[in-house]
Amino acid sequence: MAGLTASEQRGEALYQANCAFCHAADGTGRNWIGSFLEPHPRDLTQPEFMGGMPPGRLKQVIREGLPGTSMPAWGGVLSADQINDVTEYIARVFHPLAPEPNLPTTSNPTGQTP
Ligand code: HEC
Repeated sequence: MAGLTASEQRGEALYQANCAFCHAADGTGRNWIGSFLEPHPRDLTQPEFMGGMPPGRLKQVIREGLPGTSMPAWGGVLSADQINDVTEYIARVFHPLAPEPNLPTTSNPTGQTP
């Protein structure tokens, strides 16, 4: 795929090596293995799901896996940087992710103590 950043390119290689097996090369999970897994691997191109998933949660799910499904925990296999690269690739090529939710803010806009 042309026009990817260095991180997205690393993510592409990592995805194809580690994730495409179950989630299919195009992210849809509609490949041979995917059709036998129950539940089926998540379709990583599905707008309702991807549009509601901020990058932080996606990385967490990759790190920790999903108990009760065949989605493995990658925290012991991929480094934080590699999980970051995979996340960037998924967000760029399969479907944009949700914005990161705003962190609770401790300052107030007027800058005055209430
Ligand atoms: C052995 C098969 C398998 C492999 C390999 C695999 N997955 Fe999954 N993945 C699954 C299954 C099964 C689900 C569960 C679908 C469900 O019930 O939501 C899943 C779910 C997910 C989800 C959705 C999480 C959620 O909250 O619903 C994401 C994102 C994901 N996988 C990303 C990845 C990435 C990135 C990799 C590679 C680093 C990967 N998966 C490798 C099988 C796999």
